[in-house]
Amino acid sequence: MYQTLLTELQEGTFVITINRPDKLNALNKDVIEELGKALDEVYNNADIKSAIITGAGEKGFVAGADISEFTSLDSKGGEALAKKGQDNVFDKAENCPKPIVAAVNGFALGGGCELAMSCHFRIAAENAKFGQPEVNLGLIPGYGGTQRMTQLIGKGKTMELMMTGDMIGAEEAKSLGLVNHVVPQAELMAKTKEILQKIQSKAPIAIAKVISCVNDAAKADKDGFANEIARFGECFDTEDMREGTTAFLEKRKAAFSGK
Ligand code: COA
Repeated sequence: MYQTLLTELQEGTFVITINRPDKLNALNKDVIEELGKALDEVYNNADIKSAIITGAGEKGFVAGADISEFTSLDSKGGEALAKKGQDNVFDKAENCPKPIVAAVNGFALGGGCELAMSCHFRIAAENAKFGQPEVNLGLIPGYGGTQRMTQLIGKGKTMELMMTGDMIGAEEAKSLGLVNHVVPQAELMAKTKEILQKIQSKAPIAIAKVISCVNDAAKADKDGFANEIARFGECFDTEDMREGTTAFLEKRKAAFSGK
């Protein structure tokens, strides 16, 4: 069904693998188009409870936007490319009501680092490398990187990484808060799935509200405190809240229905 992606649904987790390993999974137009469609599946398919974005091969997660597509663009074309990508993929991933985790298996550079940052959190293999090397090309990040990296690791380090174009390894990325866990490459998918299985055992409506409220913390035009009060209140009208609190009081494990 997809030309540039492999997809597989396993125990409620939709694994989306960008599959251009000979080009280190660089994001060309087709990949952006298909990632948008795969994310629509995550939103709309009730069998999908969570998702993982990863890259094919052992070397690259995504080595950036496909540089070969840049040569014919002018300012309007560049702006359109960034807008389309942000609307159809990066913002869609960030705002997805179901958890999406990046399993970073190698180079996550430029748009690849931005793709990982648009996921709700990141797990890295020991060989993962992160960077925003756009200045080497006379460019800046265009898929939300200036904003999301600043939110994740702070202004000073973001300035340095984006102005030098330097790459950092997985352990440094972890110490900066860019990734949550670093594991041997052979354990990357198992670790990511294990965390998502744990999340899937919780109340899905509450999970969606956590995503929405935490995302608001980074949006100047949103009142995240007011959103939290409203979303907290809404939880009291869910069957899952009745089940969760009753199960606790009855000293049994909750069985959530997602209602
Ligand atoms: N766009 C298009 N093609 C890319 C690419 C990108 N962002 N990143 C890698 N590739 C291609 C290479 O051109 C090469 O293709 P070829 O075999 O047809 O020549 C292939 O992927 C393998 O990459 P290569 O450079 O040979 O691997 P390497 O191990 O020597 O270096 C990197 C790996 C990641 C350091 C290097 O590929 C690189 O710097 N890529 C660009 C990163 C970047 O600037 N990203 C931001 C883009 S805005």
